[in-house]
Amino acid sequence: MMPGSTKNEAMVSLVLNIRDGDSHASFSLEAEPHRTVLDLLERLRAGGGVVPAYRHSCHHGSCGTCGAIINGLEALMCLTTAGDLASARPRLPGGPAVEPETDGQGAVVVTLEPLARMDVISGIAVVPGRVFAGIPGEAVYLAAVENAGRSPLPADPEGARAEGGCKPDAAVWRPAGRVRFEACIECGLCVSACPVAVPFIGPAALAAVNREREKRPETAAAMLALAAAPDGVGPCGRHLACSRVCPQAVYPGKHIQMLRNALGAAARHAAGMSAD
Ligand code: SF4
Ligand code: FES
Repeated sequence: MMPGSTKNEAMVSLVLNIRDGDSHASFSLEAEPHRTVLDLLERLRAGGGVVPAYRHSCHHGSCGTCGAIINGLEALMCLTTAGDLASARPRLPGGPAVEPETDGQGAVVVTLEPLARMDVISGIAVVPGRVFAGIPGEAVYLAAVENAGRSPLPADPEGARAEGGCKPDAAVWRPAGRVRFEACIECGLCVSACPVAVPFIGPAALAAVNREREKRPETAAAMLALAAAPDGVGPCGRHLACSRVCPQAVYPGKHIQMLRNALGAAARHAAGMSAD
């Protein structure tokens, strides 16, 4: 039994493989089914194990820092339990649930990888700058009141993407001048899970663009111009991987569809105007 175990319940045997550069660090352990992957990493560290780097803060699904690819599926480590991993579970967003892989002794094999499309700091710790990279500078609905004294993002979208939009604020790990999106915890699971392989500002950014359009109608034309850009809604193939992995029910895929609907309505309106 691991240090800190308290419950008298059937234990789950696990082999935890944690990405560390070009290889994995492996740990064999026993855990109660309710223990989360993050609990297990913490216990390994407390027990003196040399554990590859990982990020976390809140331990309860609200800070968005502990995302990882857990046996092929983007998830928060603080919300994924040993019991989940010992049960049938999808191996990719929207895929069928499959029985867990086990080693020769019946231990469940769990592999932790860093989120895709992010810069890896070390181990499975990433800088989530890609989550923010496409958010336009003029999306002031998302601007931080408490950050009002800081340098604003460049006004032009291209500049925002190239310079400010993906530059993390050293103190809070998000771009200066930005607070949380509604509901979104900026975990980046959607960005990692999205299979689009061409330039694309991504599901989290497009959800933010749509929220800006809804909340501040005076920005609707500018937001729709961003959505209509080559890296806007066009590359989205409606895979819905983003909505399937989002732990906060933001449903980025829904926001992308709302932008498409609004673009269609604007095009019909323009066609009607030109026919008059
Ligand atoms: S939209 Fe959902 S999955 Fe994407 S960053 Fe926000 S909370 Fe995470
Ligand atoms: S530690 Fe905060 S969301 Fe997992």
